[in-house]
Amino acid sequence: MSKLAIIGGTGLTSLSGLQIISSNTVDTPFGLPSAPLSVGELAGKEVLFLPRHGGSHTIPPHKINYRANLWALKQAGVERVIAVNAVGGIRADMVPGALIVPDQIIDYTHSRINTFFEEGLEHVTHIDFTEPYCESLRRQLITAGAGCGLTLIGEGTYAATQGPRLESAAEIDRLERDGCDLVGMTGMPEAALARELDLCYACLSVVANMGAGRGDEELTMAMIERTLVDGMAKVKQLLEYFIGSVHE
Ligand code: HPA
Repeated sequence: MSKLAIIGGTGLTSLSGLQIISSNTVDTPFGLPSAPLSVGELAGKEVLFLPRHGGSHTIPPHKINYRANLWALKQAGVERVIAVNAVGGIRADMVPGALIVPDQIIDYTHSRINTFFEEGLEHVTHIDFTEPYCESLRRQLITAGAGCGLTLIGEGTYAATQGPRLESAAEIDRLERDGCDLVGMTGMPEAALARELDLCYACLSVVANMGAGRGDEELTMAMIERTLVDGMAKVKQLLEYFIGSVHE
C-alpha cells in the first residue's frame, strides 16, 4: 500500500477518527515543519497527518515552511499527499461548503521560497508542471466523493494568492478574467514542491466564502471559520471513505 499523508489547512488542524500511533518531531535540511508528524490509523490503514498552519493554527500562509513540510513527508516515506485547503469561491457554483478537486493552478504568490533546486546543483532543473496535480489521485478523490454520496466539483483553476489579507473585489474580477474559479493562499508553492519531490499530490478545497465582492456578507475570520465547520465535516467523511474504500 502506498503511504498517504494529509496536509490539513484552516479548519482541519487535527483529524478526528485518526488513532494516533506516534507524533514525531522531525528536522529537515530546510528547518522544522509546521508541526510534528502524526502517524496514525484511519479506517484501518496507516495515514500521516500534518497541520499546515501548525497545531494551534498560528502560522500564516506566507510564513509556512513549505519546503520543510514536503521534505518531512518525503523523508517519512510518503508517496501520496491529499492537501486540504480553505478557499474563496469565484465561479458561481463554488458556493460556501462546496468541495472542489482543482485540476489547474495559477501562482500569484511572491517572496516565498518556491523550489528545492536552488544550490549545489549539478544541472539546472525544470519540472514539468503542465498538469500540476496527480491525475490518478484526483480521479480517486472524485470516485470517493461519488461513493459516499458527496457532490464534488472535479475541476477548476485555483488562484494562489500571497495573503495574508483577502483580495479586493477588483482582484477577484481580475482572477476571474484570468480563468480562475477559486482562490486560496496555500496552494503554492506547495504543489510545485511536491512535484519536485515526485510526490503524487492532489488538492481538496473547501469553499469558506464567496470571493471579495461576490457575496452579501462581510468577510470576517469568524464567518470563514463558521462556514468551515460544516465543510470540514464533509472533508472528514470523504477522507474516511477514501482511505477505507479507495486508497491502496
Ligand atoms: N481568498 C483567499 N484565500 C481564502 C479565501 C479567500 O476569499 N477564503 C479562504 N481562504
